[in-house]
Amino acid sequence: MKQTRIPFIAGNWKMNKTAAEAITLVYELKAALAGMEGVEVAVCPPFTALAAVKPALAGSSIKLGAQNVHAEPKGAYTGEVSIPMLKDFVDIIIIGHSERRQYFGETDQSVNKKVLAVLAAGLEPILCIGETLQQNEAGETKNVLARQVSAALSDVPAAEISRVTIAYEPIWAIGTGRAATADDAQDRCAYIRGQLRSKYGDLADQVRIQYGGSVTPANAGELIAKPDIDGALVGGASLKSADFTAIAKAAKP
Ligand code: 13P
Repeated sequence: MKQTRIPFIAGNWKMNKTAAEAITLVYELKAALAGMEGVEVAVCPPFTALAAVKPALAGSSIKLGAQNVHAEPKGAYTGEVSIPMLKDFVDIIIIGHSERRQYFGETDQSVNKKVLAVLAAGLEPILCIGETLQQNEAGETKNVLARQVSAALSDVPAAEISRVTIAYEPIWAIGTGRAATADDAQDRCAYIRGQLRSKYGDLADQVRIQYGGSVTPANAGELIAKPDIDGALVGGASLKSADFTAIAKAAKP
């Protein structure tokens, strides 16, 4: 079934790059990835760079995403950004990244609201899930993943599930240089797909599952070759055009 899923490499720039720096990186990526087929590539710069990056991406197949959004369309939510505001720029929105859960109080319930709102607006969420080191060491990983998947996808209809990408990001692997082994990542991603299958049947085969956490040009190929790993959500290495390009090329089937 894997061949029916186009590999998807997304760069989560986190809180990095001014608008001017973002344009420079995007021009480098555009040139390096020009003409590459068979892999979907997206960049997710900070909000403040979206208006500059959007026109810079013209003529390229690189997609644009955001890193977060508020679930309400407008209102008295100081400092927040809504889906109608982002829809001018992006096709993709990362939801529920572990840094949002850890530092900004996001919960399975708030993540679910955001996923529903993003889908209702016709956009594509990248839903992030993953266990802490403590949960991993306690053997709770699969319970945590099952809970996160079930809560985040509550009320998501079958007709919309293929627009969801799930990013499995073990928290202990993020920014540590210590990626999950390809076999472990495959085991978790297969488990996640099994959870999807129990809810959505064979539509589970249409959902792309990315691995994230210390992905580099050196480990990307082995990870993405695994049957249930359909790409990567890349942090640090997405800030360097040569590294991100090499990761995207490693995803070519
Ligand atoms: P690193 O690739 O820097 O480990 O970050 C992963 C991540 O959090 C992507 O969302």
